[in-house]
Amino acid sequence: KRPIIIDTDPGIDDAVALSIALNHPNLDVKLLTTVAGNVNVTKTTENTLKLVSFFEKQVPVAKGCDKPLLIQLEDSADIHGESGMDGYDFPVTSLKTLNVHAVEAMKECILNSAEPITLVPIAALTNIALLFSMYPETKRNIKEIVMMAGSLSRGNTNTSAEFNTYVDPHAAQIVFQSDIPLTMVGLDVTSTAVLTKNETEKIKGFGKVGKMFYSLFQHYRGGSLQTGLKMHDVCAIAYLTDPGLFTVQETFIEVALDGPAAGATVADLKMKYHDTTNAVVCLDIDVPAFQKWVVTNLEKIN
Ligand code: BDR
Ligand code: CA
Repeated sequence: KRPIIIDTDPGIDDAVALSIALNHPNLDVKLLTTVAGNVNVTKTTENTLKLVSFFEKQVPVAKGCDKPLLIQLEDSADIHGESGMDGYDFPVTSLKTLNVHAVEAMKECILNSAEPITLVPIAALTNIALLFSMYPETKRNIKEIVMMAGSLSRGNTNTSAEFNTYVDPHAAQIVFQSDIPLTMVGLDVTSTAVLTKNETEKIKGFGKVGKMFYSLFQHYRGGSLQTGLKMHDVCAIAYLTDPGLFTVQETFIEVALDGPAAGATVADLKMKYHDTTNAVVCLDIDVPAFQKWVVTNLEKIN
């Protein structure tokens, strides 16, 4: 089982990603950390606790940063709803977070792990950037970073930037400069990784889990039940367990920090300007195989 830490801001696609990761036989989720992004960090934390409780798991949750490093938070409640997970009435949970900040919890988890940890950020990179700034010694026990972030082509927030890198471009830049093996699972693949009516109708039939997701899906404006729902964060989990679904390339990426393209991940795909690479980037995904992977994994949970 591969030990991982997921940094998240649920978020309806985060909710699907967490559900699969928490129940996948090859993944060992050691810690969940939360950050401000889709909605504020109080809500993303509450949503994470609700999901852990829904699946009756023992995974610790630590609350992280309430705002980006240098700029104001612009949330995404228009996509995920005011609560971040609108559409399903989760029972109130008595689960509590750890009483340390996410950055401290990550540090402890990484330094105490016998096996190197894989970091899986599926939200703005604020907590991860602070971890590397405050505790650079953690880097030696991190195997790699697999993150849903960025875009090689157009953005979904401004013309060029993907939401997670847009929310905290300075943090994203620190992460790209961290010298840790890193894979960017960006909009180039995640925007095409949709669940269509074909899959959502199947999922609807998967007992309690299916009902929960079908209700959330009706409120998710990352697409529609008719045309397909974008499963951005779920792609990062699929990359961990089934990398063969993706076509990738090594490159060098830097982040635009301001101006009309703030948050854009600029890649030197032809390696014209750099001698070394700092990232692997996903270029393509086998969409039918991904759809099947999501359905099979959600079905198995019941
Ligand atoms: C990313 O932005 C968030 O709204 C989603 O949860 C995902 O992490 C997609 O751009
Ligand atoms: Ca997310």
